[in-house]
Amino acid sequence: MAGSGTAHLRGSDALLSVRDLVVEHPTKGGVVQAVSKVSFDVLPGETLGIVGESGCGKSTTGRAVLRLDRLTAGEIDFAGERIDTASAGRLRELRRSIQMIFQDPVASLNPRRSVKDIVVEGLSVTGAPKEQRTAASAAILQQVGLGGERFADMLPRQLSGGQAQRVAIGRALALRPRLLICDEPVSALDVSVQAQILNLIEELKAEFELTVVFIAHDLGVVRAVSDDVLVMYLGKVCEFGDSDLVYDSPAHPYTRALLDSVPLTDAGRGFTGPALEGDLPSPLDPPAGCRFRTRCPRAEERCAAEEPPVLQVRPGQYAACHFPLAPVTITAEPASATPEPATATAEPATAEPATATAEPADVPTTGEAKPAGEAEASGPAKTLGGATPTPPGGDGTA
Ligand SMILES: Nc1ncnc2c1ncn2[C@@H]1O[C@H](COP(=O)(O)OP(=O)(O)O)[C@@H](O)[C@H]1O
Ligand code: SF4
Ligand SMILES: [Mg+2]
Repeated sequence: MAGSGTAHLRGSDALLSVRDLVVEHPTKGGVVQAVSKVSFDVLPGETLGIVGESGCGKSTTGRAVLRLDRLTAGEIDFAGERIDTASAGRLRELRRSIQMIFQDPVASLNPRRSVKDIVVEGLSVTGAPKEQRTAASAAILQQVGLGGERFADMLPRQLSGGQAQRVAIGRALALRPRLLICDEPVSALDVSVQAQILNLIEELKAEFELTVVFIAHDLGVVRAVSDDVLVMYLGKVCEFGDSDLVYDSPAHPYTRALLDSVPLTDAGRGFTGPALEGDLPSPLDPPAGCRFRTRCPRAEERCAAEEPPVLQVRPGQYAACHFPLAPVTITAEPASATPEPATATAEPATAEPATATAEPADVPTTGEAKPAGEAEASGPAKTLGGATPTPPGGDGTA
């Protein structure tokens, strides 16, 4: 996009739906355009990964769902209810159903409270009796791998980063949320501990029937846990879609550059484009038209003049780019002509860009128009390949 649009939204089935979200921060130097008309949705039981360079607006987007920052504009629906217009009282109730965990687990925990009290902090607010809280605390600590006596009376500063994140996860789950927003939950942890925490989140997601928004700048981590992925750049959406499609055949030049700029285990599968160059422009004065144009190897005049809308490049994959990498080659009769109606070939030399006007009769540009069986997230989130299994008890937790 880096552009705007809602073609990738999947309608009323979504548990969370964010439309045209704008969050701006007035500062002495001007107005920081942290998030500019970002839209996405998350289906029940799905994990949506949000990925992009530091400063692209990932955390702001996550925080906006809970209205932790003032929203400049936009609509947020959760389970059929508007969050953006909810009263303060109703917002407090809704926030129980949407819990968030953060990058710095130790800092997110009250330094003066014991582990066993922290995990049921939320229950105290609801007025649950002490016996209920004590039982819930023991059960939750067990579930996050900190069971037994060893951790219950510890203070946050006595915990490792991984243990503290387990406590934070336990505290979030004690309220039985429907949606868990994970903001870089493993970025501050050692790699071996990252795998344990990711596996724990995966296990608990299944056990608690959670829907998850997983924010990270680490592409590998996002791919491992996500059904769908949203790629952001400078407060805008670049690409959205099934994570395998987006990672294996990115349509947006920024996604491709991101993939090229990190060593991925599957990099041998053909990401050969130029790595990301140049500095991120200032969010105080982002480029007109496509915000990525100052760093984009495919930029043309049109990119400065017109902001590209989010359009479907093929079923299950959307990009906001005038000249996307994966061209649309959807046939006239997708349902009957071939079992695989929509295919994209890599980078044709003559790339006639996929736009809404290219083939209006054949190219669906709304979420409703996806051919059956192609567009939806494919089952449960993938487990992290090769990750260390979550230890059953507190011993050895990182
Ligand atoms: N409270 C704030 N005041 C001013 N600018 C902010 C504030 N919070 C975030 N920003 C700016 O908004 C942009 C997006 O920030 P953030 O959402 O934290 O990005 P990310 O999580 O992707 O690293 C950044 O330029 C950041 O500096
Ligand atoms: S080709 Fe143009 S619209 Fe597409 S990402 Fe590059 S600058 Fe943006
Ligand atoms: Mg962040």
